[in-house]
Amino acid sequence: MQRITVLGAGAMGAGLTRPLVDAGLDVHLWGTWLDDHLIDAIEAGQPHPRINVVISDKVTTYRSDQLAEAIEGSDVVVMSVSSEGVPGVAKLALPLLGDAEAIWMTSKGFCPDPDGNIQLLPDALRRIAGELGVTIPPIVAIAGPVKANECADAKPTATMYGCRDIEVAKTAARAARTPNYAIAASGDEVGVEICAPMKNVYAISLGIADGLEEATGVPHHNLKAAAFAQAIREMSLLGQKLGARPETAYDLPGVGDLEVTGLSGRNKVYGVRLGRGEKPDEALAEMTRLEQTVEGVPATGLAMTLVSQRASDIAGQLPLLFAINDILQGKVSDVLAAVTQAVLPVRP
Ligand SMILES: NC(=O)c1ccc[n+]([C@@H]2O[C@H](COP(=O)([O-])OP(=O)(O)OC[C@H]3O[C@@H](n4cnc5c(N)ncnc54)[C@H](O)[C@@H]3O)[C@@H](O)[C@H]2O)c1
Repeated sequence: MQRITVLGAGAMGAGLTRPLVDAGLDVHLWGTWLDDHLIDAIEAGQPHPRINVVISDKVTTYRSDQLAEAIEGSDVVVMSVSSEGVPGVAKLALPLLGDAEAIWMTSKGFCPDPDGNIQLLPDALRRIAGELGVTIPPIVAIAGPVKANECADAKPTATMYGCRDIEVAKTAARAARTPNYAIAASGDEVGVEICAPMKNVYAISLGIADGLEEATGVPHHNLKAAAFAQAIREMSLLGQKLGARPETAYDLPGVGDLEVTGLSGRNKVYGVRLGRGEKPDEALAEMTRLEQTVEGVPATGLAMTLVSQRASDIAGQLPLLFAINDILQGKVSDVLAAVTQAVLPVRP
């Protein structure tokens, strides 16, 4: 594998180019119609506005009207746009893949199909390819504790690449790993993929525990740790219902990514606001005003629908997901009691 094209010049797409360049690959970076200012900064040698890191001049940049040129001759194409951009970019890019041997994907989220069935993103890509009548190569789902700015700066980072065909995941891992970017190959596409949106949901509960400390002056570290453990259990259970291996949630995509998401990030910050006593709608409006998208909020609703569609028999084993949903719906007057009840289960 030699040439790789990353679709999306946002924080993660641009950040990922660093290990790819360091691994000796010929890296193309395509910016969507929303990314012209980001491509301008990269081409001018200025720090990327979202991650404050200069992107290597070995990266060849392309603008939105140059998609075919960007992809031509690529061995791998990486989907790195936000989940809401995935269907639109997929429709443009999938017919152009040529002889590409794999699609990698850092995008995270759920994607409802036209009938309202909640799909994980690789399933959505396969569906869209089917609708377009094009055949696509294997998909490698990428997830783990990766902050784009640290990745872009070659700080030590570990991540997991998951594909239904473990040999494809291993090939990808061999091609992109560097001394500072370690890749674990996995055959568990679903397990890698389900953790990505769910950790945004659960990070809200970790933020709530921190917000309670801010509001009361009293640490709620035990509650936060109990919520963390419950979140991982629930991610593992939900993943298993969808065909994932139980252990993937206990690895980099679950434990690792929830840890990094719970340290900082918009979902945790939103939870802090709730823990401090702000109303869910008001807190969200304020974050929207600050141009801070809280992915965990829509993901909570989509996860609830997913559970009702495909995992209703384990709904009783997902009390933290249900508690977070109740809190976001404004149904809870005492968030401390709601989270406590969800994460201190009576066990036999
Ligand atoms: N930032 C991180 O540390 C990180 C780490 C791992 C994975 N991710 C995931 O990678 C994806 C991108 O995240 P990011 O941090 O780069 O976000 P970002 O906001 O910096 O960039 C978003 C990218 O998606 C594109 N996009 C957004 N809306 C679109 C639309 N409606 N149509 C077409 N394109 C659209 C933008 O043009 C841009 O290229 C997300 O799914 C995110 O969860 C991010």
